Amino acid sequence: MINDDIEDLPTNPSDSRSFSDIIDARINRRSVISGGALGLASFFVGSAIGGSRASADGHEGDAGESLGFDAIPTRAADGIALPAGYVGQPIMAWGDPIDGRAPRFAKDASNPAEHQERQFGQGHDGMFFYPLGPNRDSSTRGMIAVNHEYTLGQLTFPDGRDNWNQNKTRKEQAGHGVTVAEIRQQRDGGWKVVPSPRARRITPNTKMRLTGPAAGHRLLQTDGFDGTWSRGTVNNCGSGKTPWGTYLTTEENFNGYFWEETGGTASGISEEQAGINARYGVGGRGFGYLWASTDTNWRADLEPNRPNTFGWMVEIDPYSQEVAAKRTALGRFKHEGAAFLTAPTGEVVVYMGDDQRFDYYYKFVSARPWADDIAAGKSPLDEGTLYVAKFNDDGTADWLPLVHGQGPLTADNGFADQGDVLVKTRLAADLLGATPMDRPEWTTTNESTGDVFLACTNNTRRGREDAVADDGTPLFEATPGRFVPSIADAANPRLFNAFGHIIKANEGGDATATTFNWEIFILAGDAASGATVEDDDIFGAPDGLYLDPFGVLWIQTDGGQPDGSNNQMLACDPDSGEIKRFFVGPNDCEVTGATMTPDGTTLFINIQHPGDSGTPEDPTATSAWPDGDPDGRPRPATVAIRRLDGGRVGT
Ligand code: FEO
Ligand code: CA
Ligand code: CA
Repeated sequence: MINDDIEDLPTNPSDSRSFSDIIDARINRRSVISGGALGLASFFVGSAIGGSRASADGHEGDAGESLGFDAIPTRAADGIALPAGYVGQPIMAWGDPIDGRAPRFAKDASNPAEHQERQFGQGHDGMFFYPLGPNRDSSTRGMIAVNHEYTLGQLTFPDGRDNWNQNKTRKEQAGHGVTVAEIRQQRDGGWKVVPSPRARRITPNTKMRLTGPAAGHRLLQTDGFDGTWSRGTVNNCGSGKTPWGTYLTTEENFNGYFWEETGGTASGISEEQAGINARYGVGGRGFGYLWASTDTNWRADLEPNRPNTFGWMVEIDPYSQEVAAKRTALGRFKHEGAAFLTAPTGEVVVYMGDDQRFDYYYKFVSARPWADDIAAGKSPLDEGTLYVAKFNDDGTADWLPLVHGQGPLTADNGFADQGDVLVKTRLAADLLGATPMDRPEWTTTNESTGDVFLACTNNTRRGREDAVADDGTPLFEATPGRFVPSIADAANPRLFNAFGHIIKANEGGDATATTFNWEIFILAGDAASGATVEDDDIFGAPDGLYLDPFGVLWIQTDGGQPDGSNNQMLACDPDSGEIKRFFVGPNDCEVTGATMTPDGTTLFINIQHPGDSGTPEDPTATSAWPDGDPDGRPRPATVAIRRLDGGRVGT
């Protein structure tokens, strides 16, 4: 079903090869050490992390308490594991009604598309809690926005992907997108979805606006749409909560849904568009989704500009039914997540990863103080400067502006206006000489110290050699025709990086700065792979990051773990560097998405794709979570985590 270039989807065959990748890592690491790259990186490891605590979920927290629970061991068993004194309640599972009432999930997955359109989707991923109450600060009642990254056809229908038809396309599409629902805490402490006038599903078929510098651009005009409107959102991965209280949902592997089987310019696709498609991975039958067989919107050969309308950051107001907007000023790539700082002068700064091997790390700086724009009824995300990062080996880095007319971003090079720069963000960043990274996933920020944490999940192709440059540098063909140096550097210090790392960056107090300092905060893995964590704290493939309002840095994993155990979540004190394992998920799942109530007494996380061992035939074989019904199917769901004594989670 899936080709070898897919990253970050659970059905990725590269995941199923992770064990051999691990072996590679252990063997090849010696050459890294002998080459000195690891030693260079070690220089940046473990320096003291100073400063006070701050929030990713909106409000300032208390100062330093250390991690107040007993760490749990790794494990490889179905179900969830938490420290003593904690309880985890699955809520909002795939197929549950978004109004808490109907239509109910049928355990043979026989619900039709029109049910799925009123139920939670699959592939739960990024998520944030939006308190209700008179001051919008309730910790017992709120809206919650949840991403549904993708669907597994073999789970979605009683007969799997056989006998494909229009209704199957419609149901799978309705399983994607975003859910906004209202949840309330009950007297027993549990959480429940309740009816709400604000509840809604946003799917690949929900009309939304395209705003900012690329709105109306020639490359965004599609059949029936003038480039200021677009049809839907897809592959919604990580997310962000803006300082003004809206939800940003990302569009990551949008390319995987399109068919463009003729290849290149054969079906009348322009050379320009063929180049864009190559750089963004649009081609063939994508990841194997069958939508294009019944819905020509996913035929990139018939509608060449359609893929250009994806790969954006989408803003949603969870407190209203306002139409969602794709904010083109934030660039077009495989957006993973968004974290925010407010500059001393009031601008909002958004930190974003492009999750593909050898792709880049970005930030956006608004043109004006965000509060002024909000007061004027404008979006702070429609005007500003997008930058891409170039990491230097001495622990400094430069933010390179992606601005039409500056440097090589001119008409001669295919960038006739800022819309070109944004639609073709990756190509523009290539020209600027940005640093190819080991799959940048989530970011999270500390508002009081200005620290930004960036997860680089893994990259087992760094070190693989497809060609050799004239000067002898080994090259890897990262996307068709794009060869990148396949060597280690200080920011990506390991060849065959099976377990990933976390970078900590700081702009010295002004988030609008065009330089920053950085260090390797954690090299993940085990001792054999050169990890900087204690043996008890081993983990691999950091993906979700969430610095909670009380100063705990939560690290979530998605990928092969060093000891073959299940994916997990760890708590880290970013000041001391102390790490404790807090949660282990069901078999063959990914742990992702994190958000807290304002008082910190409930932490919500997501379990994505339980039971997906990478064998499409039978995903029910390895997990029955959360229902525990051997005749049912595993379902992605949110877990509401509380302390039995009602105290704050984690501290
Ligand atoms: Fe959808 Fe890169 O995680
Ligand atoms: Ca991932
Ligand atoms: Ca992810």
